[in-house]
Amino acid sequence: MIVMKARRIAILLSLACAGFLLAGCTGVSTQSSVDPMGPQARNISKLWWFQCYTLLAIFALVVVALIFAVMRGKQRRERAGEGASAEAPMIKLEPQRERSIRNVVIGATVFTVVMLFVYLFMSFITGRAISSPLNSQTALSIEVTGYQWWWAFQFQDPTSSQMFTTANEIHIPVGQPILLNMTSQDVIHSFWVPNLMGKKDLIPGKRTTLLFQADQPGVYRGQCAEYCGHQHAHMSFMIVAESPEQFQAWRNAQLFPETAPATDAQKKGEQVFLSAPCIMCHTVRGTEAASRLGPDLTHVGSRTTIAAGILRNNRENLSRWITDPQSIKPGTRMPANKLSQDDLAALVEYLGNLK
Ligand code: CUA
Repeated sequence: MIVMKARRIAILLSLACAGFLLAGCTGVSTQSSVDPMGPQARNISKLWWFQCYTLLAIFALVVVALIFAVMRGKQRRERAGEGASAEAPMIKLEPQRERSIRNVVIGATVFTVVMLFVYLFMSFITGRAISSPLNSQTALSIEVTGYQWWWAFQFQDPTSSQMFTTANEIHIPVGQPILLNMTSQDVIHSFWVPNLMGKKDLIPGKRTTLLFQADQPGVYRGQCAEYCGHQHAHMSFMIVAESPEQFQAWRNAQLFPETAPATDAQKKGEQVFLSAPCIMCHTVRGTEAASRLGPDLTHVGSRTTIAAGILRNNRENLSRWITDPQSIKPGTRMPANKLSQDDLAALVEYLGNLK
């Protein structure tokens, strides 16, 4: 029993440590809805704390009532023990006791119903507060498509040459509303960045919208919040909120097509990329690779992670991912690629240069 308890505590502690370490080494904020960084999340967090405090108070009341009842029962038994030989005086008290018990039960029922209505009202108020304060007219519009198991983001613009697509990692300006137009290519997914907003489903054949804003710069982790198959847990993404100037610089960089390969290795890597099965699924703008089945790789080198947030973006992980993705993310649509050591090294060199 003690061992099991200790083990459970150890697991919880190690999970907490892993969370802190991950947060520490990537600069990503702790994924938490009670650490709000925007107006939507702040309203949700307020509701959460309201419920937490009131439920704690109710719990404390119940515990006090329980202690009181146990003590009263003990006293009554003692008194009954003392006067056991006397003419049963308890019988005379019975109707009065029954009345007081009835009053307590009615009181508790009324209180429960009132509290449920209070929660209903607070939930309604929160819903309104989430949807009202932002102006969608001034919003930055992004199309989000969910795939098993990654995210495509297309930044909208009235001028088509100012539009671009990326995957799993986006930057947004702080203080500006962001309007997401979302759909899914296969099954239902759910978009959720706890620090910034509540959940919203992505449904095949249907469009859903989500309006939110980040008030604080930071890197916020998002996670698919609707079970969508084998790798549901490995369908995360990142939102980097930064100053409007920094965002503009990132956006301008994303608009560029392929970074031209400079070294011999990079040139060879480009040839490998264009002759291997990569181009059946991926796009690198500025080359003949233009398929949309997998993530757009035009600026893959600028992302901090690959495989929808599960691997750090470095040469070693890129090589592992290209040669044997099934061992990292079983069930992923990305097939294994048998390449010679030289070709693989050149390909990784080329991809890493796509900043
Ligand atoms: Cu996508 Cu769960």
